[in-house]
Amino acid sequence: MAETLGPRSTPADEAREAVVAAALGKLDLDAKSRLLSGQDMWSLPALPEIGLDSLVMSDGPIGVRGVRWTADDPSVALPSPTALAATWDPALARRAGVLLAQEARRKGVHVLLAPTVNLHRSPLGGRHFEAYSEDPYLTGRIGSGYVSGVQEGGVGTTVKHFVANDAETDRFTVNNLVGERALRELYLAPFELIVEHARPWGVMTAYNTVNGTTMTEHRRLVNEVLRGEWGFDGFNVSDWMAARSTAGAVEGGLDVAMPGPRTVYGEALARAVRDGEVEEATVDEAVRNVLRLAARVGILEGAEPAVTELPDSVDGVALAREIARRAFVLVRNERDALPLKPGKVALIGAAARDARVLGGGSATVFPARTVSPLDGLTAALPEGTLSYALGADPTTELAVADKGFVLRAVCRDAEGNVIGTGSAPNGHLQWMGSDLPAGVTHEALHTVELTGTFTPRTTGPHTFGIKGIGAFTLTVDGTTYFDDVQRPAKDDPFVTFFGAPEPRARAALTAGQPVDVSLTHVVDLPDDLSIKVVTFSLAHQEPQRDPDELIAEAVAAARDADTAVVVVATTDRVESEGFDRTDLTLPGRQDDLVRAVAAANPNTVVVVNSGSPVELPWRADVAAVLLSWFPGQEGGAALADVLTGAHEPGGRLPTTWGSLAAAPVTRVVPENGELRYDEGVFIGYSAWEKEGRAPSYPFGHGLGYTDWTYEAVETRGTSVRVRLRNDGARAGREVVQVYLAPVDRDPGRPARRLAGFATVEAGPGERVEVTVELPRRAFEIWDEASNAWSFVKGSYEIQVGRSIADRRVTATTNV
Ligand code: BGC
Repeated sequence: MAETLGPRSTPADEAREAVVAAALGKLDLDAKSRLLSGQDMWSLPALPEIGLDSLVMSDGPIGVRGVRWTADDPSVALPSPTALAATWDPALARRAGVLLAQEARRKGVHVLLAPTVNLHRSPLGGRHFEAYSEDPYLTGRIGSGYVSGVQEGGVGTTVKHFVANDAETDRFTVNNLVGERALRELYLAPFELIVEHARPWGVMTAYNTVNGTTMTEHRRLVNEVLRGEWGFDGFNVSDWMAARSTAGAVEGGLDVAMPGPRTVYGEALARAVRDGEVEEATVDEAVRNVLRLAARVGILEGAEPAVTELPDSVDGVALAREIARRAFVLVRNERDALPLKPGKVALIGAAARDARVLGGGSATVFPARTVSPLDGLTAALPEGTLSYALGADPTTELAVADKGFVLRAVCRDAEGNVIGTGSAPNGHLQWMGSDLPAGVTHEALHTVELTGTFTPRTTGPHTFGIKGIGAFTLTVDGTTYFDDVQRPAKDDPFVTFFGAPEPRARAALTAGQPVDVSLTHVVDLPDDLSIKVVTFSLAHQEPQRDPDELIAEAVAAARDADTAVVVVATTDRVESEGFDRTDLTLPGRQDDLVRAVAAANPNTVVVVNSGSPVELPWRADVAAVLLSWFPGQEGGAALADVLTGAHEPGGRLPTTWGSLAAAPVTRVVPENGELRYDEGVFIGYSAWEKEGRAPSYPFGHGLGYTDWTYEAVETRGTSVRVRLRNDGARAGREVVQVYLAPVDRDPGRPARRLAGFATVEAGPGERVEVTVELPRRAFEIWDEASNAWSFVKGSYEIQVGRSIADRRVTATTNV
């Protein structure tokens, strides 16, 4: 496998281990307990007495945000994880990892809080966009490539969230009831594969409970399975605020409790040892894991880092664009609607102009620039051939004040004296821990004012709003609209991150005429907070146009063009961390818009800009459908590459797309605190097949711009050799997919499973051969009676093709 690292323990590993042991021996109980507890939102304390620097962690997975949550600390934003998985290319994931390590180093980050390898169990899962696939093998292979790449750059990873964090509803408390077979064959499988092939330096344990034990205390799954059976030697960090008890966590194999400074470790851990509740040897093991990580990333004096020669530097902008076009999945292309023929193009949709490049929550990063579809096509098409119409605006609520706003943050003390000012690239302010403007301390800080100007791009009534908890004063153009207190509607510690802004002011403004805006917040943080976070947003919404009028304008533009390209999208109120979806429909009037445009122009191409499946009820009425996922900062440029035919779309579905009504496994809402994974090993395509239902687009599906004939397959043991020919008129890339179907199948086993895949390239008329090795695990099931893997002997059909539903050549093997 391209993503596999070298041998398990090298002489350098052993030398590092000796330095770690010596450093550990020099620490007293208090220092050890302190090291296991975050000192702030993102880092561990330095211990100068052993030459240990502070270890810094940061999210992950599409970029490296760094320790500040602000647009003035930008990072390269790659396409969403669903997009990376859609490339079916672990080597490309590895290159993404190398870039992310480079970004991490640039920002002084030692450990990336990624990748997310939970599974697409239900399409409603709120963080679906942040995970790779419904298939554990594809997830594990992409994750292995990613981890190998990051670590090749000398930066650690935390494979997350261990385990079964496949939905967001009540995520802190939900008790997921998962049978051992499903755990082993599905949910643990990507973690296991990554541990085996990429030797990650970290994992993050999830918020949720599995079968009655919260994951930060799950001794069996962490100490026995992850460390014992699989030989994981990295560190185990809690998800943020997930650690609940001192003895339970440390005995359950949790090494580090984040964030700090107040955690269940630190002083509490030292006390638990002194009180005889916890053995010091248990603390030592956790410290050893942290020191080993520190040694690997090069912040423990005397230890040689795991990587001494850094990989060549990567051009992040070029890589973001390459991954995006390799990820786009062309699911329909009637009459060769794509690539575009010369002629007039009507580009339609809110997300065509205001690109939606990434999903919400902790995966958020702030790219230095974003290329929208409108930017990308304007640059790529001949002048005068492109028109633009909004068509439908799916954002039903206010968004962080951004375009047209010029803001700064002014900090004052209780007497109203200015004690410091901070930059505010947009209306979202988030200062965590000691990350405050120069000269400002939490003790002195009384109010923060976001102040500046707003220059509207449209005339009409603009809405302004506030996201955050506490006292606020909002003034627009000299009028104070709100001077009161906002209270949270929900008892969730992350409500200020994920909640909706409240509309508080409506002002009639004129396009191009700047007005003054000011939002003042009284900072009133309780003393007992584990970490002090000043966070609130000034939000804004453009004047709302009549929806029918907008559609009529788009229809007129489509009529006047040779091709209509409609970009439909979800919003960050639909896809984000912190909540699950309740349906799969496109928000607002977007379905009506597509239907109306398709009726006006038979050459309608729809670009679906979402991180996870949405329903496309009009899909048979349009010429082409291209899924662009959240395409990252260069998404619009990549879209132009693919629409014009400069490159073919390279993606294949990493997850089944179908309607919610037909989807076999959908439940994300617990009942009495429990979420039962009753479907066992039947999720994703296995469940669709079991139910005998055909989805809109099957797992593995995706078209390119050339045709392929699968000529032959030969097997020798577990080696599968496939010959295929590019039958089209241009060079292309194909993802060869190998499915393994037991011939005499016990009904408890899925009809077939993805067992291998490879990408090939060939010029027009060229033949190409590829060998895919099937892992032993593909022939095994978890036997609950003996509590062990069991190799199932017998006859298997090896089915090779373009998707789970489009199998072109088959062979039989007996094992
Ligand atoms: C998320 C993690 C993330 C952490 C730090 C949590 O809410 O679940 O994935 O790494 O926050 O931002």
